[in-house]
Amino acid sequence: MQTSLKSIEEQRAEALRQTEFIAETRSYVLELEQTLGRPLKSNVTTFGCQMNARDSEKIRGIFAAAGFQNTDNEDEADFVIYNTCTVRENADQHVYGRLGHLNSVKKKKKDMVIGLCGCMMQEKHIVEKIKKSYSFVDLIFGTHNLYEFPELLLKTIREKKRIIEILDSTPYLPESLPVSRKYPFKSGVNIMYGCNNFCTYCIVPYVRGREISRRPEEILQEVRNLVSDGVVEIMLLGQNVNSYGKTFEEPYSFAKLLREVCKVPGLRRVRFMTSHPKDLSDELIEAMAENPLVCRHLHLPVQAGSDRLLKKMNRHYDLAHYMELVKKLREAMPDISLTTDIIVGFPGETEEDFEGTLRLVREVGYDSAFTFIYSKRTGTPAASMPDQVPDEVAHARFDRLLATIKETAEEQCARFEGQVHDVLVEELNKEPGLVTGRIGHNLVVHLPGDASMIGKIVPVRLRECRGFYYLGEVAF
Ligand code: 5AD
Ligand code: SF4
Repeated sequence: MQTSLKSIEEQRAEALRQTEFIAETRSYVLELEQTLGRPLKSNVTTFGCQMNARDSEKIRGIFAAAGFQNTDNEDEADFVIYNTCTVRENADQHVYGRLGHLNSVKKKKKDMVIGLCGCMMQEKHIVEKIKKSYSFVDLIFGTHNLYEFPELLLKTIREKKRIIEILDSTPYLPESLPVSRKYPFKSGVNIMYGCNNFCTYCIVPYVRGREISRRPEEILQEVRNLVSDGVVEIMLLGQNVNSYGKTFEEPYSFAKLLREVCKVPGLRRVRFMTSHPKDLSDELIEAMAENPLVCRHLHLPVQAGSDRLLKKMNRHYDLAHYMELVKKLREAMPDISLTTDIIVGFPGETEEDFEGTLRLVREVGYDSAFTFIYSKRTGTPAASMPDQVPDEVAHARFDRLLATIKETAEEQCARFEGQVHDVLVEELNKEPGLVTGRIGHNLVVHLPGDASMIGKIVPVRLRECRGFYYLGEVAF
């Protein structure tokens, strides 16, 4: 079904309608619990990126509001949801593997309900395969109708028949739904959905649809609400945050939004993800530099160190432009941490192209990088390009790339050794007596401490650099 985004009034009315479904589900769940003599449990597994992680927090929030108890053990759950990713082939395979396991659990627990949602479900051939070969899946919905999960949840548990609901675009945004945050002290905030870029290797524009930016006043209200609920760190989320607001009748820039977010009283740290080099403006670099709340870290995916490949990837920048951005960023914020995404083995990649990538990594001196072996995605232009790189060549290059990134990461990490930095303590370490947190530059620090420190920002001396992370201690 082809749909387009509804008006603000219609959005509000739909949100109310869904809230009513939550209330109805809650009564039904109570009834079921009385019959069974035990609570109903739910479990949500996230595959993929930060956007999916945020969507899962909404799914968990709806389960909780509808009376389900969260469990970390999917085998004991009454309702299991996999929020899937399809950016690379191995993400798909991972889901199929886990489904095989769930099938064996469900054979012994026939009332178990299994739901699938997220990016994989927007691909027709995948839904066909699940319908045919995974008949034990009870609910399938996509990226465009998360807003109606309360309604789908009730239908699935009441009607006990398979429900498949997938849309081609977003009529209602999944805002105003209850949220169960993973961390009480930090949160993602969606500022936009979808992507208009059509990089030739990437499936995201096909499964997440066209860019839709949320109104700035709604985003700011959400940030204020989160801060009053104890959040100190916000991550503004979008596939390409640098093109935020460009589709409004009166365009509104991401830099302006960032400045407004920084004014929210009580907020201590702001991060954002992901930036596209073609849209990174001077205004944004200024807004970052003038606001100490903005973490000194930028994730700036480069994808490849060869102009020829960047062109074939449809990235709309060349290496000279990318290096100019790096220079401007370092001039404005000399200690900034830079991280990136790199694809190895894109169709037609030669040894010379790949050596360009290694040179670029050394030249920029990344703090870290997410590296991926190119994965052919059905329906993308790159899938039918000639000269697909043989697996063994791609793997050998991948290993060389990892070794080079390890070198630059170690060099970069060492630059703060001995300094005192603010650390947001996030969790207890597996090692007793230690806690783990992050500095603004996003580097991980382990330090002596206890649960009372979780969620607090404390000054920490970065005593020893261990390659990718630090050992530190609270500095008094
Ligand atoms: N193969 C390998 N990596 C990919 N990415 C996106 N699509 C593919 C693909 N087909 C990587 C890009 C992107 C990150 C989120 O995933 O590097 O920045
Ligand atoms: Fe995919 Fe490119 Fe959009 Fe990122 S910018 S989501 S890589 S199409």
